[in-house]
Amino acid sequence: MVEPAVSGAKNVIIAAAEAKVRRVVFTSSIGAVYMDPSRSIDLVVDESCWSDLEYCKNTKNWYCYGKAVAEQAAWDTAKENGVDLVVVNPVLVLGPLLQPTINASTIHILKYLTGSAKTYANATQAYVHVRDVALAHILVYEKPSASGRYLCAESSLHRGELVEILAKYFPEYPVPTKCSDEKNPRAKPYTFSNQKLKDLGLEFTPVSQCLYETVKSLQEKGHLPVPAKQQEEDSTTVKS
Ligand SMILES: NC(=O)c1ccc[n+]([C@@H]2O[C@H](COP(=O)([O-])OP(=O)(O)OC[C@H]3O[C@@H](n4cnc5c(N)ncnc54)[C@H](OP(=O)(O)O)[C@@H]3O)[C@@H](O)[C@H]2O)c1
Repeated sequence: MVEPAVSGAKNVIIAAAEAKVRRVVFTSSIGAVYMDPSRSIDLVVDESCWSDLEYCKNTKNWYCYGKAVAEQAAWDTAKENGVDLVVVNPVLVLGPLLQPTINASTIHILKYLTGSAKTYANATQAYVHVRDVALAHILVYEKPSASGRYLCAESSLHRGELVEILAKYFPEYPVPTKCSDEKNPRAKPYTFSNQKLKDLGLEFTPVSQCLYETVKSLQEKGHLPVPAKQQEEDSTTVKS
């Protein structure tokens, strides 16, 4: 996972330098940014933050480690080759699926609707709509003033808040109502700054709409059966 990410990043930047492209936009991840246990949860995470590589290695978090070293390699190679590089760091990407198969990000939601997750974890996660991620890439590419990194996050939710939203929109599914950890205090979500992208003109889609569209897409693509009651309501809406 790590080696192809690093050499792939370097190769693309070198190829861009050779082709004299005007600007390279690199998709990194929040995984390259926030994974640092020494930072207080009360501090706002912004573009100046980097994940702690030793901590990622010790916890065998190879995704975050790989994204951090690949992004660092991209910055170093861009500097060496005089490439204008801008980086987008998205949090977990949701919204309508383009591809026919499900990926890790959609399984995160699907498991709360199929009955496979009986409880929810005492954990938090930040989300962003895929259209906003696409728009972020276009904005940082087109706006001459864009530079550096751009955190791409709408908001962070505790799993308890996530299941509440899912149950509100889709009450027919067996969405869990109990936390698997009843002993510890509720985990606090990170606060990610999305001000840099807002300053470029990005208006983020609210997370509840993003979750709604994700579930609708899972239904439309046949990954999730449509409950009989919703089918009736949908046909009434179409008729009226
Ligand atoms: N999904 C998220 O929630 C999320 C959040 C933050 C950042 N990101 C970042 O966004 C990017 C896209 O993520 P995704 O979720 O869209 O991933 P994805 O659905 O797994 O797609 C990955 C793409 O990379 C291609 N690929 C994989 N290994 C490759 C290799 N060795 N050489 C060339 N191409 C290779 C795959 O090609 P094939 O289709 O041919 O297999 C596929 O098109 C990644 O850099 C990821 O780290 C994603």
